[in-house]
Amino acid sequence: MTGRPVPDGRAEGRKDTHAAGRVVVVGSANVDLAVDVPRPPKAGETILGDRLRRSPGGKGANQAVAAALAGGADTTFVGALGEDEGADLLLVSLGGAGVRTDLVQRADAPTGTAFITVAPDGENAIVVAPGANDHVKIGAAQADRIAEADVVLAQLEIPLDVVAAAAAARRSGALMVLNAAPSRELPDSLWQVLDLLVVNEHEAADLAGEPEKLLKRVPAVVVTLGGEGCVVLQRDREPVRITGVGVDVVDTTGAGDTFCGVLAAALAQGENLPEAAGRATTAGALAVTKPGAQAAVPTADEVAGKTS
Ligand code: RIB
Repeated sequence: MTGRPVPDGRAEGRKDTHAAGRVVVVGSANVDLAVDVPRPPKAGETILGDRLRRSPGGKGANQAVAAALAGGADTTFVGALGEDEGADLLLVSLGGAGVRTDLVQRADAPTGTAFITVAPDGENAIVVAPGANDHVKIGAAQADRIAEADVVLAQLEIPLDVVAAAAAARRSGALMVLNAAPSRELPDSLWQVLDLLVVNEHEAADLAGEPEKLLKRVPAVVVTLGGEGCVVLQRDREPVRITGVGVDVVDTTGAGDTFCGVLAAALAQGENLPEAAGRATTAGALAVTKPGAQAAVPTADEVAGKTS
């Protein structure tokens, strides 16, 4: 797959693509415990926040909800949950968004939990206790579903060998997209199977120093710039800058996940990368206007209304 450009529209080998586009998201699911704070706490400091909010999250589950609800794709979530009430919260949210959850695994560990502070400017800080997320596996049933996908989307809150196994299970012509969040070092074997990397500026710096250097390792990169939109980088092409969408920021939690989910859906539906990044930018902007992660994902109609 290395060196293969991200296709413009439907490419050879993808003519059987389902009209809605088929996306499989492989990743984490967390119960988010969020509290609004007057400012981020300093090291060693205790501060008082507002009331606790408990809601469905996790980068993988958030991206699956976004691909289905905001992106309109036929979406499967592959992840692992505990046998607890947190798992129920996540299954209800995923199912309500139209995500297929039949391949979600149950682990002998608590459902992942994220501890989140949200500052008045909407910026967040997050610590994740992975729990069941460390037990995701790509079994035969998961591999079969991945083999039917147009786009496979993963992040880094699950073991790296699971991301590699998901990439290996995809069919020729399907895209492997990695949102390298939270950032961590990637082995060469994983770089070699990626078609598209999605990172924010900090993650890009962690991985390569300068975003352009990432193109030596992966054919296409989208660098998200928060409220400023994103930049699309592709080998042998001029960079494309997508400008941000002006909105009132309430909570940025999960906005990057909405971006990734919609990007994957749009690519699965045959849009070229800059077009897909434009739709994803609009969806990500709408996601910051409400509190929470999955609860803030806009509908496809809301995204279309904001775009037109
Ligand atoms: O990207 C936001 C997500 O990161 C939160 O929902 C939290 O669960 C962590 O995974």
